[in-house]
Amino acid sequence: MGLAKLLVKLFGVALAVLIMRYVVSYLRSSLKGLPGPFLAKFSDVWRFWNHYTWKHIETQKKLHEQYGDVVQLGPKTVSLSDPNLLKTIYTTRGTFIKICALGSPFIAQELDPLMNDTDASKGKTCDIADWISFLITLDFLGDMTFSKRFGFMEQAQDINGQINTAERVMHYFSVVGQIPMLDKWLGKNLWCPIKFADFAIPAGFCIQRFMKRVQNLEQFKDKKDFMNGFLEAKKEFPDLVSDNTVIGYMIINILGGVDTTAIVMKAIFYWILKNPSIKAKLVDELRTARLPFPANYTSAEQLPYLDACIKDGLRFHPVVGHILERVVPSTGLRLSYGTTLPPGTIVGINPWVLSRNKNVYGEDAEDFIPERWFRKENEDKEAYEVRFKMMKDADMAFGNGNRACLGRLLALVELHKVTATIFSKYKIELEDPE
Ligand code: HEM
Repeated sequence: MGLAKLLVKLFGVALAVLIMRYVVSYLRSSLKGLPGPFLAKFSDVWRFWNHYTWKHIETQKKLHEQYGDVVQLGPKTVSLSDPNLLKTIYTTRGTFIKICALGSPFIAQELDPLMNDTDASKGKTCDIADWISFLITLDFLGDMTFSKRFGFMEQAQDINGQINTAERVMHYFSVVGQIPMLDKWLGKNLWCPIKFADFAIPAGFCIQRFMKRVQNLEQFKDKKDFMNGFLEAKKEFPDLVSDNTVIGYMIINILGGVDTTAIVMKAIFYWILKNPSIKAKLVDELRTARLPFPANYTSAEQLPYLDACIKDGLRFHPVVGHILERVVPSTGLRLSYGTTLPPGTIVGINPWVLSRNKNVYGEDAEDFIPERWFRKENEDKEAYEVRFKMMKDADMAFGNGNRACLGRLLALVELHKVTATIFSKYKIELEDPE
């Protein structure tokens, strides 16, 4: 009984000390005057939970609607949505540093026989979302990174649950990234690691491919894949790039490209299929263009309606649902209404918030409308150019500045080629349009 009382007392004291710590750091904080949720003033725990329950996108959109361009998301973290700040925060000079938490022929040539084997070819319903994941995620990136597919297309299934695992790994990054020091106690805990999933299978595949390549350099010397590029870098900068670095680059490549392109492509397909008039215009443009099979990028990127569908898809369904964090440098960050955020504050813009900004994208920013990228009937040329530039400048789909996405061009090639190929060759529709 005595021990239980002692433990309760100790717990009470620890709790009191913790609360005091939060209160003192709140009172000292120069951010306390900023608008935002009450709990965000004291700790990052509410944001951690908000991400864990997948509510962060809606929450952050609502907070900006309620409070405007500046919202405090944590004791040291501020979300901004003023498009004018984009070029200041995400510079190519990298003054606002990112805190880091944690050429092969396209396989569409072989898409046809594989598609012919799907349920769809036998008149049954086939889930195109699964096929996008098989094709776009690990198979395509395996091919591009080390000229070897993982084999999802052939087996028409998520081999060893790797795609599902990759999604859970991303969720771990998103949640634990809100309080990065937790990673030491969770995922990187030496005794009993706690993570939603790990990336061991694709990472093992990268290591295997690396071993095979270095043991057979002559056989693979003409491959125009990322691995040969990384090995070149190793030759040129031996002090910077080791064998482990090369393997690390390949794992980052797979991780960075695995879910991202598939998410955007599924969203683009869904919104095109959901809007019959958009689908009809796209199919009409593709059929008139008489593209080869598979569609080549040079022809596909010239098609204005296809391009507008992809642009608006990237805007409407960004891959990243949280602020792209950067640290305010020693100069501080002066906001338009006079407040200056002190050095060390973590700031960022959430692509989901900026892509819904009505001042930039118009009153219909909440809808998927490829036509917004074209000149309107009564719009004069100059006004259109200003509007177009404003939309382009606010584009955060691939990030911005010196740490923008390294796979952007590759992803755009995939998006154009696959969308053009599928919509020009196959009749696809939603099983349940509602
Ligand atoms: C539609 C597809 C994609 C989207 C929307 C996308 C988006 C992004 C975003 C928003 C960032 C973070 C930028 C920042 O923090 O400011 C990023 C970083 C990155 N992406 Fe992508 N990505 C896509 C595809 C790919 C592909 C296919 C690859 C690899 C081949 C890739 C490799 C990377 C890498 C390596 C980084 C880290 C860059 C750095 O920190 O310096 N991405 N991407």
